[in-house]
Amino acid sequence: MNRLCYLASIGKSSIRINVKLFDKQKYFLIKLSDSSRFLASTRINFDKNLQSINNTDKNSPPPPPKKEISPIRKLLFVKDYLDLLIIIFLATGIYIGYKNSKIRKDHEKKFNIEWLDIPFTKHKIFTCNNFFLPEFVAKSLEKFKQFEVRPDDVWIVSFPKSGTTWVQELVYLIENECDFKKATQDSIENRSPFFDYPSPGLKHIQNIKSKRIIKTHLPRSFLPDDIEKKAKVIYIVRNPKDVTVSYFHFTNLSTQAQFTGNFYDFTKLFIEGKVPYGPWWSHVDDYLTKEDVHLIYYEDLHTRPFEVIKELSKYLGKDLSDDQIKSIIDWCSFDKMKNNPAVNYEWYKELGLYKKNGHFFRKGKIGDWLNHFAVDDSQQIDLIVENKLKTKLNFNYGICDEDLEKIYLVKNTKSL
Ligand code: PPS
Repeated sequence: MNRLCYLASIGKSSIRINVKLFDKQKYFLIKLSDSSRFLASTRINFDKNLQSINNTDKNSPPPPPKKEISPIRKLLFVKDYLDLLIIIFLATGIYIGYKNSKIRKDHEKKFNIEWLDIPFTKHKIFTCNNFFLPEFVAKSLEKFKQFEVRPDDVWIVSFPKSGTTWVQELVYLIENECDFKKATQDSIENRSPFFDYPSPGLKHIQNIKSKRIIKTHLPRSFLPDDIEKKAKVIYIVRNPKDVTVSYFHFTNLSTQAQFTGNFYDFTKLFIEGKVPYGPWWSHVDDYLTKEDVHLIYYEDLHTRPFEVIKELSKYLGKDLSDDQIKSIIDWCSFDKMKNNPAVNYEWYKELGLYKKNGHFFRKGKIGDWLNHFAVDDSQQIDLIVENKLKTKLNFNYGICDEDLEKIYLVKNTKSL
């Protein structure tokens, strides 16, 4: 009580705070700050003043006139006060940092996460459940698993660069009775959010009121259990050689990945399975060994789109007329999608996520790998498909086996 009288007589809230803190955290402050000097002197003044108040109470002679605090001293008070604030902020920051890093470490231990240094890329990558995953999914592994799946959800799943965006637009149009106008009114990432990415985030996706069309690249084991029993799951597969080419160009387009190696370096990583979401063969196998997954080959969308879209709409429980299917095929042609600002991801350039000199819609062809691959690497991928991929799939590489054999025989140089 007396202390407060004294402080009020000085009339500075800053001083009030310091004296209170002095009592509570004396040793801490003395060690950490210049403030100790100020605090110590304040304490002495306080004691003197307390004495004088007591004396007045006993009708003793009036106290000596109060000394005015000089401007320099006031400035010193302010400086000490600021020092103290900085210390409090720093200590709080250190404490929060420590707490967060402990939570992160516990989480990483629980999921057996191991961080890796992958050459040539800015992306941090980690291993978990025998998959290589990008940094941005690390902190949500538990939440992915616990995500509430709805029976009317449509999940569009793929290894990156397999034609996901194409199928997202197809599904949106099938689900929305070919409402092309509606499809231009919002971006594809709002109409069909990316589950794995921090934006728009799981909370947002959980709260979407309308039917959800969710895109994900996550391997099967990272998604909620029984997802294909509870909802519709579409898996898109593309021949792994064109996937490698598309993925390589994408890592150059993205300012986040920024791959600095060449195509051969990238292919080596792909073959070792060490690209984000890899290994490719485990990704494919884990989905295709499940029942109730609707499979779409990227190449079939090129060669027999009508049948693929008809089957897809049947799977989604929609009965489209032939004309509707034809109009969807036209709307989703490579050239139309490349020039459609609602799907072409050109807005990522404004956001600084893509470099200005490339396009998400790059070539959209079957067989571009023939312009990129070395014979050895092409054969290595053939071996992966033959031996490591458990599901037997017929890939269309844009070239018949005989022609490929001839090329293998003739070319013994580095490039096909
Ligand atoms: S992502 O980032 O993983 O979601 O990319 P994803 O959409 O799966 O794959 C991108 C590749 O698909 C091609 N694409 C198409 N090809 C033909 N027709 C249409 N309509 C179409 N839409 C997307 C796209 O061009 C990328 O392949 P590449 O070979 O790089 O061109």
